[in-house]
Amino acid sequence: MSELAKVAQAMVASAKGILAADESTGTIEKRFKSINVENSEENRRAYRDMLFTAKGVGDHISGVILYDETLRQKSADGTPFPALLTRLGVLPGIKVDAGAKAMALCDGETITEGLDNLPKRCAEYVKLGAKFTKWRAVITIGNGIPSQACISANAHALARYAAICQSTGLVPIVEPEVLMDGDHTIERCQDVTEWTLREVFAALADQKVKFEEMVLKPSMVISGKDCAKQAGVQEVAQRTLDVLKRWVPAAVPGIAFLSGGQSDELATEHLDAMNKLGGGPWTLSFSYGRALQQPSLKAWKGMAGNVAAAQAALIHRAHMNGLAATGKYSAALEKKAA
Ligand code: 13P
Repeated sequence: MSELAKVAQAMVASAKGILAADESTGTIEKRFKSINVENSEENRRAYRDMLFTAKGVGDHISGVILYDETLRQKSADGTPFPALLTRLGVLPGIKVDAGAKAMALCDGETITEGLDNLPKRCAEYVKLGAKFTKWRAVITIGNGIPSQACISANAHALARYAAICQSTGLVPIVEPEVLMDGDHTIERCQDVTEWTLREVFAALADQKVKFEEMVLKPSMVISGKDCAKQAGVQEVAQRTLDVLKRWVPAAVPGIAFLSGGQSDELATEHLDAMNKLGGGPWTLSFSYGRALQQPSLKAWKGMAGNVAAAQAALIHRAHMNGLAATGKYSAALEKKAA
């Protein structure tokens, strides 16, 4: 097995998942605003330090996705974050896209940028200790969208990104997110997710990306946030599994879902239900941002005195999602451990 294939397998090791802590400076500002914390470099460092030094973080977290600034920051004792995580048996990763930008001639749609200079940036990230990368493409459902133009351009960019990462010694997380914003039905979400995955895997194959050396990070097939009829847990799990089985090659070692604005417990329940249904040829795990961090962020509030409670909240969600990643989660365990 290649080194990259081993890293990819470790990222989706049994009962473990990935912590997405790669919020850009603009995105973390929104999160900090909700707890009245100033978006300073030191607060961003202290917040990430709190997350990464939670006792037992490596028990259910296989890797952490960092932001460029965070990859260069240090823990309170002076250890650079990538070295700290490595010491804890957690793989450090890095978001390498430059964000989703308005797409020319495609109203209401975005194209993710960041391919310029990517080989050079990847080479530097390898030196800084990164083992894997992330690139997020965003597909929006709305009146007359998504367009073929948006889906194929984003699929192509994801594939070029993945090829560049593999060629520089990094495992790419390929993240095509179909947004849950809107009042569309779950059937519409399913159609768009199938369309997107079909294009993404065709583009990955065209660009010679090795499926064994990547991790897929998709959204789940779910009702639009404002849809009057919200599909239940079993329907979400079944439809998501159906779609993934149709379009994701068995050679991909693992699928690590994003949470995309689902509540933390619902994101756990959905993952658990898919694994209880028997999963698929790949590991089904998590790469949650909000669904792992939200309770911890609320408990922290920027105060040193709250660090222990905030760390306990993170470890609890990591534990619950670790159980869900093997289909062993239950509401009773959620309460018991809380
Ligand atoms: P959420 O789980 O909050 O959607 O974040 C995952 C992520 O990394 C988005 O790019």
